[in-house]
Amino acid sequence: MKKTVSIVLATLVATVIGCATTMAPTPMRGADVTAPDKAPDIKQYAEKTPGVGQVKLIERTFVGQPPMVPHSIEKYVPLTIEENACMECHQTDEIRGQKIPKIGTSHFSKTIKTKAGEPVLEMSRFQCDSCHVPQVDAKPLVETQFIGVTK
Ligand code: HEC
Ligand code: HEC
Repeated sequence: MKKTVSIVLATLVATVIGCATTMAPTPMRGADVTAPDKAPDIKQYAEKTPGVGQVKLIERTFVGQPPMVPHSIEKYVPLTIEENACMECHQTDEIRGQKIPKIGTSHFSKTIKTKAGEPVLEMSRFQCDSCHVPQVDAKPLVETQFIGVTK
């Protein structure tokens, strides 16, 4: 009796192993598992000049999200100690009749003001592009029904 059980078990194990070795895994990324990854396509960042009527704000998707940058930033980066081009526009809400989304009060120092009493940028907010990122016009890789919660 015992012997029969062992034989049945051994056959079963051999079949399972046999199947596993003949059925090659199908990798989800398409390429063979041993093939090197293909470099992703170079994506174009939206070539949109801020404030010329062609730029719509990007909807926020969660509470406290740093809004995404709806215009191109190529001309304004890298930000340096000498120059922060973002602030040239965003420290105010209007330039020559052009409406600008002004940085929130959260971005200004709570303790330091200029001699004239103007608010000063909090230095932890200096590197705008570490939180605010521009977007490429790319198709989502998978279908999604994600709906943001912004309230
Ligand atoms: C020449 C002026 C100008 C400069 C420089 C500029 N912006 Fe803007 N930005 C705008 C305007 C105007 C808008 C509103 C959308 C539009 O009309 O382009 C905007 C929109 C935004 C928004 C969206 C705000 C929201 O509430 O959704 C973010 C974030 C932003 N800019 C970040 C940046 C960052 C970061 C930089 C620097 C790398 C920068 N901007 C440089 C003018 C400017
Ligand atoms: C540490 C992350 C961080 C950095 C750095 C940062 N921001 Fe923001 N920003 C946020 C978050 C989070 C919000 C949304 C909540 C708020 O207003 O504080 C925001 C909001 C904004 C808004 C929209 C304000 C509104 O009331 O709709 C603008 C415009 C903006 N930031 C521009 C800038 C610019 C320009 C810089 C660089 C000088 C900058 N931010 C640096 C995180 C950041």
